[in-house]
Amino acid sequence: MQILQDKKIVLGISGGIAAYKTPELVRRLKEQGADVRVVMTEGAKAFITPLTLQAVSGNQVADSLLDTQAELAMGHIELAKWADIIIIAPATADIVARIACGMANDLLSTLCLATTAPIAITPAMNQQMWHAQATQDNIAKLTERGCLIWGPGSGEQACGDIGLGRMLEVNDIVTLSSDFFADKYLTHQHWVITAGPTREAIDPVRYISNHSSGKMGYAIAHAALRAGAKVTLITGPVAISAPTGCELIHVSSAEEMHQQALKFAPHCSTFVACAAVADYRVAKIATQKIKKSSEAMQLELVRNHDIVADVASLKHKPFMVGFAAETQNVEHYARGKLMRKNLDLIAANDVAKSGQGFNSDNNALTLFSAIDKTEIPLASKQIVANHLVSLINQHFLAKQDS
Ligand code: C5P
Repeated sequence: MQILQDKKIVLGISGGIAAYKTPELVRRLKEQGADVRVVMTEGAKAFITPLTLQAVSGNQVADSLLDTQAELAMGHIELAKWADIIIIAPATADIVARIACGMANDLLSTLCLATTAPIAITPAMNQQMWHAQATQDNIAKLTERGCLIWGPGSGEQACGDIGLGRMLEVNDIVTLSSDFFADKYLTHQHWVITAGPTREAIDPVRYISNHSSGKMGYAIAHAALRAGAKVTLITGPVAISAPTGCELIHVSSAEEMHQQALKFAPHCSTFVACAAVADYRVAKIATQKIKKSSEAMQLELVRNHDIVADVASLKHKPFMVGFAAETQNVEHYARGKLMRKNLDLIAANDVAKSGQGFNSDNNALTLFSAIDKTEIPLASKQIVANHLVSLINQHFLAKQDS
């Protein structure tokens, strides 16, 4: 069942240009099974019509506190009680200020006062207005009161400015909504995850690296976050953005990753080594660009630390999960690494198979413990990660009980 199935969402739209994205937002929430009722401020109606939102939501749009017919159909107190969550998107500086002050001078602000449901605010405003002390004070006040603040994003704005203040993309708002309702079975756990490749410098312009998009590690970070874990993501250079809410540690070389892993691992419950760490680094990194002087050249390489094995040999070692990307004899090599690196679990994938593994959006894994194995069938990396995180937790709990 989809996480948003039958969830009752009040979508509050205030008067910002990003309001033009809300019909798509309503459609996407409904696709996930949510029942969406739209409430618009007067300002919102200057950007998008109630008729459009009524058509996509399949429900009458509410826009007035003093409308006798609307109050008869579903009064404002009833609507405030009906909601499982109120999402305000876009949330202008004005609605943020009015909610922070506890005003009830239109339907949307009144609903926010009258509800016990969580309120998610998706700010959308000019970057200067976002940075203004008054707005920041209001956001701090709302955060303290338990409101969820989703965004804002950064980038080019409708007014031509560049900076923080863009409403999050529709996809991100849908993901955050679904994450909000996900089962929080990892609350009080801290996961440290390594992801992406490492880069071993040869000289100031060249490096040695491995294939790795970081997608699998980032998907695991997202899955652990939505299950309520605190997540530290130690990442090599990748081109994708990290899931909202994780503690993000950027590294480049294996040595840097090793240092950060040993710093965070002693305090975590579970360590997942998903990074494609370079096995060797250049013995002597040239300080200047190496010139092409001969037909062949030799580099002396020295072995890097095995990060996951070093974490597994800590006195207070966390629950340890490694990865094995293999091109042949997958089970044999994976089990060898499980034992040699002193891991609790190893997730193996056959990177020789097309359509899965490196750079792909899909993956299939086999999870080995010392005594059993579980197949996670081919699916998107996010679905595989959700499944994997839940299996890791089952093994973690079983180990604690034993
Ligand atoms: O030995 P191999 O590189 O195949 O092992 C893969 C597992 O070990 C992965 O979990 C990877 O993140 C981890 N690893 C590591 N440090 C290294 C090499 C691999 O943490 N230097």
